[in-house]
Amino acid sequence: MIGRLNHVAIAVPDLQAAAAQYRDTLGAHVGPAQDEPDHGVTVVFIELPNTKIELLYPLGDDSPIRGFLDKNPSGGIHHMCFEVANILEARDKLKSEGARVLGNGEPKIGAHGKPVLFLHPKDFNGCLIELEEI
Ligand code: CO
Repeated sequence: MIGRLNHVAIAVPDLQAAAAQYRDTLGAHVGPAQDEPDHGVTVVFIELPNTKIELLYPLGDDSPIRGFLDKNPSGGIHHMCFEVANILEARDKLKSEGARVLGNGEPKIGAHGKPVLFLHPKDFNGCLIELEEI
């Protein structure tokens, strides 16, 4: 059901410093910062030849990233995003097998303008999983 790895997301304590490190030290193609108010994050996407890295920084007081950074002050891997062909079919299959979908269970529009859902990390070996319909 899942397809390509779309991105790995890293929560960072300093977005400009992290973007500069990927651009200047690692020599990657780093995009502009974009605010995603529906998700409580500011994101920077880094394009690699085979996938993307998503740098996440809290936006707003109830950002889901803030608690993560409180527990991981130097940052850390926050989630992985897999591509799916049909997000509602994927959701219904996962729910029928007992996986928990976060939020109200309805897809939101993600940073690429495509529908996304998140799956509970306790159901997936401690890893928060994002599904994105491609
Ligand atoms: Co993501």
